Amino acid sequence: MRLPKPLIAQTHVALQPHAPQTRLDPMSDPRFALLDEIHDLVLVLDPDRTVVFVNRGAAVRLGAMHLGRPFIHVIRNPQCLDLLEQVERGAASAADTITLRTPTPGTFRIRVSRSDAGNDTRETPFIVVAMLDISEQIAAEQMRSDFVANVSHELRSPLTALSGFIETLQGPAKDDADASDRFLTLMQAETGRMTRLIADLLNLSKVEGRQAARPTDEIELQRILARACTLVQQRADDADKVIRFDIPSELPSIRGDEDELVQLVQNLLENAVKYSAPGTAIDVSVTPDTRTPGISGPTLTVAVRDHGEGIAREHLPRLTERFYRVDDHRGRKSGGTGLGLAIVKHVVQRHRGRLHIESEVGKGSIFKVHLPIEG
Ligand SMILES: Nc1ncnc2c1ncn2[C@@H]1O[C@H](COP(=O)(O)OP(=O)(O)OP(=O)(O)O)[C@@H](O)[C@H]1O
Ligand SMILES: [Mg+2]
Repeated sequence: MRLPKPLIAQTHVALQPHAPQTRLDPMSDPRFALLDEIHDLVLVLDPDRTVVFVNRGAAVRLGAMHLGRPFIHVIRNPQCLDLLEQVERGAASAADTITLRTPTPGTFRIRVSRSDAGNDTRETPFIVVAMLDISEQIAAEQMRSDFVANVSHELRSPLTALSGFIETLQGPAKDDADASDRFLTLMQAETGRMTRLIADLLNLSKVEGRQAARPTDEIELQRILARACTLVQQRADDADKVIRFDIPSELPSIRGDEDELVQLVQNLLENAVKYSAPGTAIDVSVTPDTRTPGISGPTLTVAVRDHGEGIAREHLPRLTERFYRVDDHRGRKSGGTGLGLAIVKHVVQRHRGRLHIESEVGKGSIFKVHLPIEG
């Protein structure tokens, strides 16, 4: 991204007619070229704040045309100007975290310092502006803190309920056997909710941790579906739902992790049971496909279809986020924590598959998982 030398020299000279002849041109100095190899965006300024060097990273993000221009035309940000002024007043360096909207949006750790490096006259030090884009790091920190806030919130609600029930059992309901029974049942439900939340969190972190290593066991999908179905059968019976299967008798085996795939199907079946009306059916099918967008080679598609309430279009892209529930209040009441589909997404990713959700409000939803047959 280095500009052709004659052009740089011309720009530089044209904008700095009084620059001393002996002064070095950083753009043509091999020592400065080393700065092309680092991740930071680096700008070097003359003492009059003219940009005399732009490293490759900065040229890509900020544009090489800033060479020879006053720095304040390049980064118009008062905080950044303040750093520059601190160094001009004598500080060896000054740094701050600054969010820039232009010329390149993002949050940067910006450090301004004076440097004599490559300045052969040694009279007027260069000013070096090094900018490191930390937007991703900040987003990750935000995610982590949202996650902790969500977990705390999810654990606090059942704990608050439990402590309320304990108080009632110790006080007003002390000698009331019926009330005691009722409260103990409620307490059991709340402890169950906490246990499920912790189990889901552990499952999620386990799958996330293994993301890089694709599973290699030979898997029969029929077995996975049978195991998952056994796990939700009781709940389906209680809710008066029939699970119907449409699976070819001969299916190729796939490479996978049996326990993770059982969890995946179990989560989809539990949702289908939870978010549909009593008396409706849940259809599970497996179909071989020769072409699936995003996957090379043949796939097996596992589809779980319910005839329930459906999901409005605007929610679809966020369904697999941790703790996301379409109806927060109802989801909580039904014992859901909003981690099920996050687990599904990670299991699918680990198997290098694709998840596809189609839904229509009032008609039902279909969750399709495409799994590659060959590794
Ligand atoms: N088959 C479905 N029909 C309608 N809405 C669904 C369906 N599956 C998921 N949803 C919506 O997506 C949200 C997220 O689902 P997810 O499985 O991640 O969480 P959950 O079921 O609320 O809790 P968990 O699975 O952790 O017990 C649900 O709260 C629900 O609003
Ligand atoms: Mg769920």
